[in-house]
Amino acid sequence: MTDARAAAHALPFAARRHDLDSVTLLPLDTATAPALAARVVALDPWARLGLAAAAMADRMTRPSPGAHRFAVVDAGRLVGYVAVRHPFMRGPYLETIAILPEAQRRGIARRVIGWMAREVEGLDANLWLCVTEWNAAARATYAALGFVEVGPIPDLVAAGQSEIFMRRALAPPPSRPG
Ligand SMILES: CC(C)(COP(=O)(O)OP(=O)(O)OC[C@H]1O[C@@H](n2cnc3c(N)ncnc32)[C@H](O)[C@@H]1OP(=O)(O)O)[C@@H](O)C(=O)NCCC(=O)NCCS
Repeated sequence: MTDARAAAHALPFAARRHDLDSVTLLPLDTATAPALAARVVALDPWARLGLAAAAMADRMTRPSPGAHRFAVVDAGRLVGYVAVRHPFMRGPYLETIAILPEAQRRGIARRVIGWMAREVEGLDANLWLCVTEWNAAARATYAALGFVEVGPIPDLVAAGQSEIFMRRALAPPPSRPG
């Protein structure tokens, strides 16, 4: 195991700067959250749900053990938001990813998923997420990034719609009990 990997394993998704090639993940601070939240709620699926910016900002900053929240920054500009829940279930759960329209289709989601896998390499064997059934672009993204559908969860976020639970299997970790 390299020193860098050993450091990551000491604290996966640590609240520090993470460089993902051309973009950077920075721990989200309370000063940044309102502006980022306002951009994020303008995007589906949150726009279609009518989520208010203040509610999103609260969700981004409310203390929650196991939540790891980052702003995605490209050359000093905010281009997205990522929240990971870890530990979750033998692997981390991508709670939220929102890449702003001007930065989409540039491989940022691909890099975020690769980063998640590296953070838990040798420790965990799964990445998890949920996607709203009608979010065709996100479903296509996750399929392209190796996620497979586990199954639908009806009425989880809103009545009358399902969230699709998805898993990407990683290389198996060393066997361990529990
Ligand atoms: C879905 C989302 C996260 C994808 O992020 P992204 O950084 O644009 O994705 P990437 O550029 O890494 O794309 C990786 C692959 O996914 C697929 N993909 C990405 N966007 C796609 C789209 N709109 N339609 C079809 N396939 C798409 C492609 O195969 C792509 O590879 P390619 O560009 O080499 O063809 C982003 O569009 C987004 O934040 N959307 C709004 C909010 C949202 O829906 N979040 C997810 C909630 S579950």
